[in-house]
Amino acid sequence: MPNRLIRRYESDAIEVQYEIPRCIHAAECVQRLNEVFDNQKRPWVQPEHASADSIAQTIHHCPTGALHYTRKDGAPGEAAPEKNTLRIVENGPHYIHGDLQLVMGGGEPPLRETRAALCRCGASKNKPFCDNSHINSGFADPGAVDLAQEAPGEPLAPGGQITIVPHTNGPVQVTGNLEIHTADGQTLYRSEAWLCRCGHSKNKPFCDSTHETVGFVAE
Ligand code: SF4
Ligand code: FES
Repeated sequence: MPNRLIRRYESDAIEVQYEIPRCIHAAECVQRLNEVFDNQKRPWVQPEHASADSIAQTIHHCPTGALHYTRKDGAPGEAAPEKNTLRIVENGPHYIHGDLQLVMGGGEPPLRETRAALCRCGASKNKPFCDNSHINSGFADPGAVDLAQEAPGEPLAPGGQITIVPHTNGPVQVTGNLEIHTADGQTLYRSEAWLCRCGHSKNKPFCDSTHETVGFVAE
């Protein structure tokens, strides 16, 4: 089970939730709204220094889902985007953005989400989320797709829910209308995808069953 340690910071208008183990220091928050998100200060999140709207807009750009918020001023919370997208990061995780339902296992209810960074190197200690272990494990993958092996597919109706199921000792099954953006600028469309999370598939981002031969172990 992933570690779900959450810290909370609040002003009169908004509460910011920070799920520490899911932050991989992508720094979107620090760069976009440094008066609120400043890792040189304590506390590092100071929501009284900007409007709730600016803070909410900034949090929507956190690609990992480490940041969330609850509006205290009656304004609506974060909505799912119009389409579900998965971005393959060169040498890094899958960033998935959409109307997500993540099956957690262990008797936990599914996690409703809009943003998540999914481990694809196999080394994260916080699976299914990325924890930056790809850096120390030396994971190297350009995040491209061999279009000779994988047809792009046809554009799908936008939206709808995406269900994410990490399978024991195997891939992540993603079901629902999904647009996949490769690191080299290609777009693929899938209504179901089995994504490699052991780091060893020769057909990344998709599983090719190599997890069986390399003895991949994951809950
Ligand atoms: S944008 Fe999200 S992942 Fe990046 S540093 Fe901020 S909290 Fe961490
Ligand atoms: S999970 Fe990597 S090949 Fe199946």
